[in-house]
Amino acid sequence: MSKGIFITATDTDAGKTFVTSLIVEALRKQGIQAGYYKAALSGGYYEGDKLIPGDAKEVLTRAGIEEEYDKCVSYTFETAVSPHLASQIEGRPIKLHKIKRDYEALSKRYEYITVEGSGGIICPIQVSDTEVILLEDIIKLLELPVVIVARAGLGTINHTILTVAYIRQLGIPIKGIILNEYEIGNRLHEDNRQMIERLSKVEVIATIPRMKCKEKQVELDIEKLVELYS
Ligand SMILES: Nc1ncnc2c1ncn2[C@@H]1O[C@H](COP(=O)(O)OP(=O)(O)OP(=O)(O)O)[C@@H](O)[C@H]1O
Ligand SMILES: [Mg+2]
Repeated sequence: MSKGIFITATDTDAGKTFVTSLIVEALRKQGIQAGYYKAALSGGYYEGDKLIPGDAKEVLTRAGIEEEYDKCVSYTFETAVSPHLASQIEGRPIKLHKIKRDYEALSKRYEYITVEGSGGIICPIQVSDTEVILLEDIIKLLELPVVIVARAGLGTINHTILTVAYIRQLGIPIKGIILNEYEIGNRLHEDNRQMIERLSKVEVIATIPRMKCKEKQVELDIEKLVELYS
């Protein structure tokens, strides 16, 4: 079985896919058999008659992984709304047993799997009259620790500390915080880093600058990265 980490964030669009693609690429450059998984993705788009999960395409392309998209993403919806609503609109219920089975299948083929969440930490996945499945149920099901991606800037102290507090009360281990779109020398961003560490007692394990996609090159500490997975 492989080792895994779950990448969540303070919000949708905070940079989970972007950061994940850098991590998976960095691991693979070290010769580590690293893979990617996302349980539910909304806002897929068609290429011909194929519904493409954009996040998986971005990570697999960047990291040079040849894998079928539907092996890495259990549920892809075209409707760009929260997975629970997309699933209701498209009439395709999300099942935890499929998520577990798909993750376990990948686990047999990859040493390290980086799992990307949907949205922020509070994200409804499947809601009916009789059940409520939230993103946290997937994290618990897969028994993974989390890394939180937060965007540096005004408001991020509040978003990040609330996210840490919520994850802690669930009893889910937090391995670290990654500050995205971080500018070295920016007083606000540097204060974000200090205040987040001081108030949350969670380490900021990496900062990622704002980059043009083609330039995506950043030095990540591989030893530190590898330690995140359990
Ligand atoms: N460090 C960065 N430099 C440049 N662009 C970035 C950076 N981080 C994120 N982006 C861009 O911001 C947008 C949102 O990032 P991303 O798709 O990674 O967010 P996400 O958290 O995965 O969103 P979702 O909740 O939809 O999965 C994308 O267009 C991405 O390319
Ligand atoms: Mg994403």
